[in-house]
Amino acid sequence: MKSGLEDIVAAETRLSDVDGAAGRLVIGGLPLARLVAEYRFEDVAHLLLGQFFGNAAISQAALADARAQVFVHVEALDDLLLAMPPVDAMRVLLGRLEDGDDAASALRLLAGPAVFLPAILRRQRGEAVVAPDQSLRHSADMLQMLRGERPTEEHAAALDGYLVMVSDHGLNASTFASRVIASTGAGLTSSALAALSALKGPLHGGAPGPVLDMLDAIGRPENAPAWLANELAHGRRLMGFGHRVYRVRDPRADALKAVLERLTATGQVDQARIALAEAVEAEALALLARHKPDRPLRTNVDYYTVLLLEAQGFPRDSFTGLFAAGRMIGWLAHAREQATDGRLIRPQSRYIGPVPEAA
Ligand code: ACO
Repeated sequence: MKSGLEDIVAAETRLSDVDGAAGRLVIGGLPLARLVAEYRFEDVAHLLLGQFFGNAAISQAALADARAQVFVHVEALDDLLLAMPPVDAMRVLLGRLEDGDDAASALRLLAGPAVFLPAILRRQRGEAVVAPDQSLRHSADMLQMLRGERPTEEHAAALDGYLVMVSDHGLNASTFASRVIASTGAGLTSSALAALSALKGPLHGGAPGPVLDMLDAIGRPENAPAWLANELAHGRRLMGFGHRVYRVRDPRADALKAVLERLTATGQVDQARIALAEAVEAEALALLARHKPDRPLRTNVDYYTVLLLEAQGFPRDSFTGLFAAGRMIGWLAHAREQATDGRLIRPQSRYIGPVPEAA
């Protein structure tokens, strides 16, 4: 048995490849840098899901139509749901979607986070929800539903960059959850809900909010050494660092930084925030190298995610929901890929409890 199933191969996939030693990520046969530069959210959905549902079915128009369809569910947002963290309220709304296996089910699940998250955030702020606009592409529509006004092309492109970047990543915990559920024959909504539940934990997709809390607590670059050292001295982990597979820098951290730099050029990012993040990163890497000399702990995707999403106007408690909006592509593709295998995932456990006395 290997704790955490580390290094165990539990699936064969054509969807993505994470090379942890080289720091390389391939999605749908393409290198990450090319995807981020040339593909939008709907292009990656088409790339990964078209093979399962038919290329014509997964189109920009069909996705826009699905956003309009799922909008009806925001009516269910009541005080009880609005008192929940956004990702939990979003999970409830996603649970209302039909649990099918077809393209229409997949499209509704792709559309759900993009429509539900902005609606939840606006209602939590006491503002009226904004309906989807089918003339817009996915990322632009999502930003318009959040802000109530048409986003700039730079902002829509930056959100596309983020959603594409997190669209798939090998057999991470949430994707594995999605495949386990799919192997039982349950529908895509069931797979997506299980995956979202796995994602929200702080060791997986729940880390970005705490990264921002850390930057706020540090406040100024000169406070970083003492603050970070104190965290490690108390046995706490530094959020945004370390990864199960990567032993070098997470390639998504660099790709995200590049997206952030493009947005910075438009004057839409707080320069002091970037300077603080860079100073904290340099100090954290130096401290972690001394803290765990045998375990390379490097910057992961969540670190620069927070600066990008903050600059987009998303509050920190919505970051996990946004991660889900991108990763939904991977969850659905893996669920369908697993279903083609047709075999139930059912590993063994080794019993180490008390043995009953013989009768
Ligand atoms: N800060 C301090 N110490 C760390 C960190 C960190 N960020 N990450 C790992 N370590 C230490 C562990 O305490 C452990 O020490 P030990 O052997 O003395 O117990 C050692 O390094 C090895 O850690 P593991 O737990 O075996 O590493 P694992 O592969 O299970 O963890 C994980 C990967 C969960 C991402 C971890 O690095 C972590 O908790 N990071 C902080 C949270 C975070 O940023 N999560 C987002 C990950 S990216 C994503 O999911 C999108």
